[in-house]
Amino acid sequence: MGLSRILLIGKVGQVGWELRRTLAPMAQVVCVDFPEIDLTNGDSIRQWVAQTRPGIVINAAAYTAVDKAESEQDRAMKINGVAPGILAEEAKKSGALLVHYSTDYVFDGTKTKPYVEIDAPNPLGAYGRSKLAGDEAVRAAGCAHLIFRLCWVYGARGQNFMLTMMRLARERAKLRVVSDQVGCPTWSRMIAETTAQAVRQAFAAGDPGAFTGTYHLAASGATSWHAFAQAIVDLMPAEGRKCTRVEAIPSSEYPTPTRRPAYSVLGCDKLERTFGLRLPNWEESLKQVLEV
Ligand SMILES: NC(=O)c1ccc[n+]([C@@H]2O[C@H](COP(=O)([O-])OP(=O)(O)OC[C@H]3O[C@@H](n4cnc5c(N)ncnc54)[C@H](OP(=O)(O)O)[C@@H]3O)[C@@H](O)[C@H]2O)c1
Repeated sequence: MGLSRILLIGKVGQVGWELRRTLAPMAQVVCVDFPEIDLTNGDSIRQWVAQTRPGIVINAAAYTAVDKAESEQDRAMKINGVAPGILAEEAKKSGALLVHYSTDYVFDGTKTKPYVEIDAPNPLGAYGRSKLAGDEAVRAAGCAHLIFRLCWVYGARGQNFMLTMMRLARERAKLRVVSDQVGCPTWSRMIAETTAQAVRQAFAAGDPGAFTGTYHLAASGATSWHAFAQAIVDLMPAEGRKCTRVEAIPSSEYPTPTRRPAYSVLGCDKLERTFGLRLPNWEESLKQVLEV
């Protein structure tokens, strides 16, 4: 099957929404989200693939409530761990390419230099475990696939750290943000653009499975949540902004149900070697997001 039809699952999510617009000129894009499709229900998944007959399935849907996943482990596992495997089996049967997204939270954060694709995962919480199970299920099904492992996704839409910080900076004079967790804030639009280019290259190669594998896909550079928050506040219009200086605190002063990796910077050399694609520095993208 060719590039003519794409089934995009998760059209309302941060990444899904950007994919919807980026993919539009490339193919017919059939877009769905919950509740039209329910990833906890295998029949719903199979039905959508059967009726769409796509050349590519892109799964941008997930259970992404990291802390809530601790108390909803079964639901998180069905959506993140089991559903990707069903999608992969269906893709295998029909010869479609599956594009799926993983997370930096599969790592425990004990490294001090960027994680590479072959580093051993060791998730610290239920969300990370469920996402890791999904990656393994996709690989086990043996379909043509691209798994993109993302980090700290944000953008102009959806629920994300940047929008939360902007709201809080308008509401409060004082903001306290953790400075001992380091990662790569990555703009959802960059993820969509990179996905589109990689998919195009796979089809141009004449074999959608030519580049099957897992790739780290994140902005260049690295920062802490605190420095990211300060950069957001600095770029906000002064009018209506109550907070100008963000206070740095340790994670111990901001306890959460799930422990986050202290360091989850993703090394993206494999993406560059394979597709010739490298994302700009996180600060450059942040400036662009706040300009639009
Ligand atoms: N956000 C991050 O910082 C981050 C970091 C690393 C990796 N990732 C990964 O990147 C991918 C995209 O993340 P995102 O931030 O764009 O996610 P998002 O904004 O939370 O969107 C996820 C979408 O999945 C849908 N969904 C939830 N449960 C579903 C179900 N049972 N059946 C069908 N759809 C369902 C959601 O619908 P509802 O809104 O109705 O629930 C939502 O539209 C995910 O695989 C995520 O794990 C994200």
